[in-house]
Amino acid sequence: MVMTITYKNITTAREEAGQAFIGIATLNRPSVLNALNHELMTELVAALQEFDQDETVRAIVITGSDRAFAAGADIKEMCDETTVSMMLKDRLATWDKIKNIKKPIIAAVSGFALGGGCELSMMCDIIIASETAQFGQPEINIGVIPGAGGTQRLTRVLGKYKAMELTLTGRPFSAKEALELGLVNKVLPVELYLEEAKAMAREIAAKSPIAVRLAKEAVLKSFDGTLDEGLTFERKNFYMLFSSEDQKEGMKAFLEKRKAVFTGR
Ligand code: CAA
Repeated sequence: MVMTITYKNITTAREEAGQAFIGIATLNRPSVLNALNHELMTELVAALQEFDQDETVRAIVITGSDRAFAAGADIKEMCDETTVSMMLKDRLATWDKIKNIKKPIIAAVSGFALGGGCELSMMCDIIIASETAQFGQPEINIGVIPGAGGTQRLTRVLGKYKAMELTLTGRPFSAKEALELGLVNKVLPVELYLEEAKAMAREIAAKSPIAVRLAKEAVLKSFDGTLDEGLTFERKNFYMLFSSEDQKEGMKAFLEKRKAVFTGR
């Protein structure tokens, strides 16, 4: 390891990989299970862009802690927003910038990968999970829907029926089930998942960087067009829900640690 820059909500490092380096971004808000607030996401995007610009970095790993990759977008930050404030701030537009990173990104996921955490892992190109990883899109339990690509990316990977079940029930699913569903590449014991992600990053770092870049671009091309339409549609619906009483009730109930009572208003 040659250099470590510390941000407020993440840490970054470059680790040697033969003649080149791999970049590692670690989410670091342990007190809230790495809940993804705007400041964290701004830092993460800046770190990814810096790795993308750095010619010596050939592949990137995003990870969290063994307990939590990320338990979702920060509910406290969103709780009192309205549709208009959500649309004007358009904070999720920051998340979208991850789509433009040219270098391959491997998510090393352990513990909770819920809501925006699950969506962040799906924005990556490869997912290596620990046996303790728990994925899910539980937004429905707090009166909203996934807003960072979950309804689109989950459906493309799992197909309509499984994606519908998981989005409508909000049920968390294990690393083993994620592997069976084709959502993760490998599942390893918790002591090994991060090393495996780094090893795969180093393997990719040894290839031709331009071939890697064009290969990633070509695979992602298969998602183009209709994915963007789907993402725009999903985002509007997500922001729209901030006009509902159920969003306020759902998020407040979470923060007050009680069961939400939804009225459909
Ligand atoms: N936002 C803000 N704070 C969060 C959070 C989140 N998404 N997830 C957890 N936290 C906080 C908790 O409020 C708690 O803080 P305090 O200690 O101050 O009370 C702390 O992290 C630890 O959490 P818990 O005490 O709840 O820990 P647990 O082990 O009992 O439960 C959990 C863990 C099952 C992950 C539970 O925290 C949970 O259900 N979290 C919310 C998951 C969720 O609904 N995520 C979706 C968010 S919305 C979203 O992501 C929208 C989108 O698509 C962009």
